[in-house]
Amino acid sequence: MKHPTRTLFFALTAIPLSLLLLGGKSDKTQDPKRTVVKRGEYLVRYGGCNDCHTPLKFGPNGPEPDMSRQLSGHPENTKLPPPDLKPGPWFAATAGMTAWTGPWGISYAANLTPDTNTGMGIWTEDMFLKAMRTGKHMGAGREILPPMPWQSLASLNDDDLKAVFAYLKSIPAIKNRVPDPLPPTGKPAFE
Ligand code: HEC
Repeated sequence: MKHPTRTLFFALTAIPLSLLLLGGKSDKTQDPKRTVVKRGEYLVRYGGCNDCHTPLKFGPNGPEPDMSRQLSGHPENTKLPPPDLKPGPWFAATAGMTAWTGPWGISYAANLTPDTNTGMGIWTEDMFLKAMRTGKHMGAGREILPPMPWQSLASLNDDDLKAVFAYLKSIPAIKNRVPDPLPPTGKPAFE
Protein backbone atom coordinates (compact mmCIF):
# COMPACT_ATOMS: atom_id res chain seq x y z
CA MET A 1 0.00 0.00 0.00
CA LYS A 2 1.27 3.51 -0.90
CA HIS A 3 2.36 5.80 1.85
CA PRO A 4 0.05 8.86 1.66
CA THR A 5 2.69 11.38 2.80
CA ARG A 6 5.18 10.10 0.25
CA THR A 7 2.59 10.35 -2.55
CA LEU A 8 1.85 13.92 -1.53
CA PHE A 9 5.55 14.69 -1.43
CA PHE A 10 6.01 13.38 -4.98
CA ALA A 11 2.98 15.24 -6.23
CA LEU A 12 4.22 18.51 -4.74
CA THR A 13 7.74 18.19 -6.12
CA ALA A 14 6.64 16.89 -9.52
CA ILE A 15 4.61 20.03 -10.36
CA PRO A 16 7.35 22.66 -9.95
CA LEU A 17 9.87 20.28 -11.52
CA SER A 18 7.77 19.80 -14.64
CA LEU A 19 7.13 23.55 -14.86
CA LEU A 20 10.87 24.08 -14.65
CA LEU A 21 11.48 21.53 -17.38
CA LEU A 22 8.78 23.01 -19.61
CA GLY A 23 10.21 26.48 -19.07
CA GLY A 24 13.64 25.21 -19.97
CA LYS A 25 12.29 23.45 -23.04
CA SER A 26 10.57 26.55 -24.43
CA ASP A 27 13.81 28.51 -23.91
CA LYS A 28 15.64 25.93 -25.96
CA THR A 29 13.09 25.68 -28.77
CA GLN A 30 12.17 29.37 -29.28
CA ASP A 31 14.89 31.68 -28.04
CA PRO A 32 17.88 30.35 -29.99
CA LYS A 33 16.18 31.13 -33.32
CA ARG A 34 15.53 34.70 -32.24
CA THR A 35 19.07 34.94 -30.88
CA VAL A 36 20.47 33.73 -34.22
CA VAL A 37 18.46 36.34 -36.15
CA LYS A 38 19.57 39.04 -33.67
CA ARG A 39 23.19 38.03 -34.11
CA GLY A 40 22.72 38.15 -37.89
CA GLU A 41 21.30 41.67 -37.61
CA TYR A 42 24.30 42.69 -35.50
CA LEU A 43 26.74 41.26 -38.05
CA VAL A 44 24.92 42.86 -41.00
CA ARG A 45 25.04 46.27 -39.30
CA TYR A 46 28.67 45.92 -38.39
CA GLY A 47 29.54 44.44 -41.80
CA GLY A 48 28.26 47.56 -43.56
CA CYS A 49 25.92 45.63 -45.89
CA ASN A 50 23.56 48.62 -45.92
CA ASP A 51 26.34 50.85 -47.26
CA CYS A 52 26.05 49.25 -50.68
CA HIS A 53 22.85 47.21 -50.63
CA THR A 54 20.49 49.94 -49.33
CA PRO A 55 20.06 52.91 -51.70
CA LEU A 56 20.93 56.30 -50.25
CA LYS A 57 18.50 59.19 -50.02
CA PHE A 58 19.20 62.79 -49.13
CA GLY A 59 18.41 63.71 -45.52
CA PRO A 60 18.98 66.97 -43.63
CA ASN A 61 22.63 66.05 -43.01
CA GLY A 62 23.38 64.62 -46.42
CA PRO A 63 23.13 61.08 -47.76
CA GLU A 64 21.60 58.43 -45.49
CA PRO A 65 20.36 54.89 -46.17
CA ASP A 66 16.73 54.78 -47.31
CA MET A 67 15.54 52.13 -44.84
CA SER A 68 12.16 51.87 -46.58
CA ARG A 69 14.22 50.09 -49.27
CA GLN A 70 16.43 48.24 -46.80
CA LEU A 71 18.92 45.88 -48.49
CA SER A 72 16.87 45.78 -51.71
CA GLY A 73 19.90 46.55 -53.90
CA HIS A 74 20.31 48.81 -56.90
CA PRO A 75 16.86 50.31 -57.69
CA GLU A 76 15.55 48.79 -60.93
CA ASN A 77 14.01 52.04 -62.20
CA THR A 78 17.22 54.13 -62.04
CA LYS A 79 18.24 55.64 -65.36
CA LEU A 80 22.01 55.91 -65.51
CA PRO A 81 24.14 57.58 -68.18
CA PRO A 82 27.05 55.42 -69.35
CA PRO A 83 30.00 55.68 -66.95
CA ASP A 84 32.59 58.19 -68.09
CA LEU A 85 35.82 57.28 -66.35
CA LYS A 86 39.07 58.98 -67.20
CA PRO A 87 42.22 56.87 -66.74
CA GLY A 88 43.43 57.21 -63.17
CA PRO A 89 43.52 55.44 -59.85
CA TRP A 90 39.78 55.60 -59.31
CA PHE A 91 36.74 53.50 -59.57
CA ALA A 92 33.33 55.02 -59.18
CA ALA A 93 29.90 54.50 -57.68
CA THR A 94 26.55 56.08 -58.42
CA ALA A 95 25.33 58.69 -55.95
CA GLY A 96 23.06 56.03 -54.44
CA MET A 97 26.14 53.83 -53.86
CA THR A 98 24.44 50.80 -55.41
CA ALA A 99 26.09 50.65 -58.87
CA TRP A 100 29.83 50.52 -59.39
CA THR A 101 32.19 50.65 -62.30
CA GLY A 102 35.83 49.69 -62.70
CA PRO A 103 37.94 47.38 -64.84
CA TRP A 104 35.38 44.60 -64.25
CA GLY A 105 32.60 46.51 -66.03
CA ILE A 106 29.54 47.59 -64.07
CA SER A 107 28.22 45.77 -61.01
CA TYR A 108 24.96 46.39 -59.20
CA ALA A 109 24.42 45.64 -55.51
CA ALA A 110 22.15 42.60 -55.20
CA ASN A 111 18.68 42.50 -53.64
CA LEU A 112 19.29 40.71 -50.33
CA THR A 113 15.64 40.67 -49.21
CA PRO A 114 13.71 37.37 -49.28
CA ASP A 115 11.60 38.32 -52.34
CA THR A 116 11.14 35.09 -54.33
CA ASN A 117 11.75 36.32 -57.86
CA THR A 118 14.02 39.33 -57.42
CA GLY A 119 15.71 38.75 -54.03
CA MET A 120 17.21 35.82 -52.18
CA GLY A 121 13.92 33.92 -51.70
CA ILE A 122 15.14 30.81 -53.53
CA TRP A 123 18.60 30.78 -51.94
CA THR A 124 19.38 27.98 -49.51
CA GLU A 125 21.64 28.42 -46.52
CA ASP A 126 24.13 26.12 -48.23
CA MET A 127 24.22 28.32 -51.37
CA PHE A 128 24.83 31.39 -49.23
CA LEU A 129 27.71 29.79 -47.34
CA LYS A 130 29.29 28.52 -50.58
CA ALA A 131 28.92 31.92 -52.30
CA MET A 132 30.54 33.77 -49.40
CA ARG A 133 33.34 31.22 -49.09
CA THR A 134 34.20 30.76 -52.79
CA GLY A 135 33.22 34.11 -54.35
CA LYS A 136 31.05 32.30 -56.91
CA HIS A 137 27.58 33.66 -57.78
CA MET A 138 25.01 31.64 -55.79
CA GLY A 139 27.85 29.37 -54.71
CA ALA A 140 28.43 27.81 -58.12
CA GLY A 141 28.27 30.37 -60.97
CA ARG A 142 30.35 33.29 -62.29
CA GLU A 143 32.80 35.24 -60.14
CA ILE A 144 31.16 37.64 -57.69
CA LEU A 145 32.32 41.10 -58.80
CA PRO A 146 33.88 43.99 -56.86
CA PRO A 147 33.29 45.80 -54.69
CA MET A 148 31.33 43.00 -52.95
CA PRO A 149 33.64 42.16 -50.02
CA TRP A 150 32.91 38.41 -50.00
CA GLN A 151 36.51 37.78 -48.86
CA SER A 152 35.66 39.52 -45.56
CA LEU A 153 32.51 37.47 -45.12
CA ALA A 154 34.52 34.31 -45.85
CA SER A 155 36.39 34.87 -42.60
CA LEU A 156 33.20 34.47 -40.54
CA ASN A 157 32.63 31.04 -39.04
CA ASP A 158 29.71 28.88 -40.24
CA ASP A 159 27.47 29.86 -37.31
CA ASP A 160 27.93 33.56 -38.03
CA LEU A 161 27.34 33.15 -41.77
CA LYS A 162 24.20 31.15 -40.96
CA ALA A 163 23.11 33.96 -38.62
CA VAL A 164 23.60 36.56 -41.39
CA PHE A 165 21.52 34.39 -43.73
CA ALA A 166 18.79 33.87 -41.09
CA TYR A 167 18.58 37.65 -40.59
CA LEU A 168 18.38 38.33 -44.34
CA LYS A 169 15.53 35.79 -44.54
CA SER A 170 13.70 37.64 -41.74
CA ILE A 171 13.62 41.16 -43.24
CA PRO A 172 10.69 42.43 -45.33
CA ALA A 173 10.71 41.12 -48.92
CA ILE A 174 11.04 43.96 -51.43
CA LYS A 175 10.38 43.37 -55.13
CA ASN A 176 13.26 44.99 -57.03
CA ARG A 177 14.90 43.35 -60.02
CA VAL A 178 18.55 44.39 -60.00
CA PRO A 179 20.11 44.49 -63.49
CA ASP A 180 22.71 41.90 -64.48
CA PRO A 181 26.30 43.13 -64.39
CA LEU A 182 27.76 44.54 -67.62
CA PRO A 183 31.14 43.48 -69.00
CA PRO A 184 33.91 46.05 -69.54
CA THR A 185 33.50 48.13 -72.67
CA GLY A 186 36.76 46.89 -74.22
CA LYS A 187 38.98 49.66 -72.98
CA PRO A 188 39.83 49.30 -69.29
CA ALA A 189 38.34 52.05 -67.15
CA PHE A 190 41.86 52.81 -65.97
CA GLU A 191 45.35 51.46 -66.56
C1 HEC B 1 31.29 47.98 -51.01
C2 HEC B 1 29.95 47.56 -51.40
C3 HEC B 1 29.34 46.31 -50.80
C4 HEC B 1 29.28 45.95 -49.46
C5 HEC B 1 29.80 46.70 -48.26
C6 HEC B 1 28.54 44.71 -49.42
N1 HEC B 1 28.18 44.31 -50.68
FE1 HEC B 1 27.24 42.58 -51.18
N2 HEC B 1 27.39 43.06 -53.16
C7 HEC B 1 27.91 44.26 -53.66
C8 HEC B 1 27.80 44.23 -55.12
C9 HEC B 1 28.24 45.35 -56.08
C10 HEC B 1 27.23 43.00 -55.47
C11 HEC B 1 26.95 42.46 -56.87
C12 HEC B 1 28.16 41.67 -57.30
C13 HEC B 1 27.96 40.89 -58.59
O1 HEC B 1 26.99 41.14 -59.32
O2 HEC B 1 28.79 40.03 -58.89
C14 HEC B 1 26.97 42.29 -54.21
C15 HEC B 1 26.42 41.01 -54.13
C16 HEC B 1 26.09 40.37 -52.96
C17 HEC B 1 25.46 39.07 -52.89
C18 HEC B 1 25.08 38.20 -54.07
C19 HEC B 1 26.25 37.31 -54.39
C20 HEC B 1 26.00 36.40 -55.57
O3 HEC B 1 26.17 35.19 -55.39
O4 HEC B 1 25.62 36.89 -56.63
C21 HEC B 1 25.28 38.79 -51.56
C22 HEC B 1 24.64 37.53 -50.98
C23 HEC B 1 25.80 39.89 -50.80
N3 HEC B 1 26.29 40.84 -51.70
C24 HEC B 1 25.77 39.98 -49.43
C25 HEC B 1 26.36 41.03 -48.70
C26 HEC B 1 26.39 41.07 -47.27
C27 HEC B 1 25.74 40.06 -46.34
C28 HEC B 1 27.09 42.21 -46.92
C29 HEC B 1 27.45 42.71 -45.55
C30 HEC B 1 28.19 41.83 -44.68
C31 HEC B 1 27.49 42.86 -48.16
N4 HEC B 1 27.02 42.11 -49.21
C32 HEC B 1 28.24 44.02 -48.25
C33 HEC B 1 28.45 45.28 -52.93
C34 HEC B 1 28.64 45.28 -51.56
